[in-house]
Amino acid sequence: MEQVMKVSRLMKHDADARPAGWQEGRLPARPTLQAGTEPLVSIKGLSKQYGPTVKVLKGLDLDMRHDDRLVVIGPSGGGKSTLLRVLMGLETIDGGTVEFNGRPYLSFDEESRRTRMDLSIRKQIGMVFQNYTLFAHLDVLRNLTLAPCKVKGEPRAEAERRATSLLDRFGLSSKTRAYPAQLSGGQKQRVAIARALMLDPRLMLFDEVTSALDPELVAEVETVILELASQGMPMVMVTHDMWFARKVASRIVFCADGVVIESGTPDEMFKHPRHTRTREFLNNVLHVN
Ligand SMILES: Nc1ncnc2c1ncn2[C@@H]1O[C@H](COP(=O)(O)OP(=O)(O)O)[C@@H](O)[C@H]1O
Ligand SMILES: [Mg+2]
Repeated sequence: MEQVMKVSRLMKHDADARPAGWQEGRLPARPTLQAGTEPLVSIKGLSKQYGPTVKVLKGLDLDMRHDDRLVVIGPSGGGKSTLLRVLMGLETIDGGTVEFNGRPYLSFDEESRRTRMDLSIRKQIGMVFQNYTLFAHLDVLRNLTLAPCKVKGEPRAEAERRATSLLDRFGLSSKTRAYPAQLSGGQKQRVAIARALMLDPRLMLFDEVTSALDPELVAEVETVILELASQGMPMVMVTHDMWFARKVASRIVFCADGVVIESGTPDEMFKHPRHTRTREFLNNVLHVN
């Protein structure tokens, strides 16, 4: 049933016309490959399994440049969310390494059988999930200022000034004192994005952030993400919305069975996918009638 819903949503988003309220983002020209520059994220041989048998990531390799906006697509259960959760430091790993900006971030220590993580790097990464994760008992302003004040010791007045400015930028000024229960799904997701940005991330992760939204609310969230993209925020996004994927991505990454099958520019991937798996997946999601 869920799958059917997703497919019908895909069809809607593949249409030429966007839902009302969608605004054109200002995207920079396609980034060019800068030879010799270090990747922002370099993932090598990443393995992750749940329990003794469920192998989810099976030696995944992926590099991301500083100006990349990666959109990860692939079949359900292929490990997309797990990959993002690992990058966010929310999961242990069973093998491989992740470097961030040339520094070791995550690794699996064979001797102690433990995951090593550089917590100072984890703090540079922000994530927004499919389901709203706002603090229900705090108003929007406090949702935004809590972490900067508590974790970073930022003076409250300064955090509130930054929060107010972000809320204004995301069209949420009138909701400063509202509680999450008083917000629509689209507003909640915009607040969740603003909250993540309060910690000045150098990389943003978005996991199907519009999947739980009513169709008419998708545009307002996508507009915010496009604005971030246009300002050069590096991001890794999982979405089933191929129209949006094409719009926002510098590179599309097709992930299945716990590895990257192939990656390329949106044109390469949508027009000339090299692998049969990719072609089959795209045929299923783009041409279902
Ligand atoms: N906490 C967990 N415990 C056990 N299995 C899990 C857990 N999280 C995910 N899985 C399993 O890992 C596989 C990949 O999941 P996931 O990364 O969520 O895939 P995707 O986001 O691509 O749909 C699925 O088979 C899922 O059931
Ligand atoms: Mg997922």
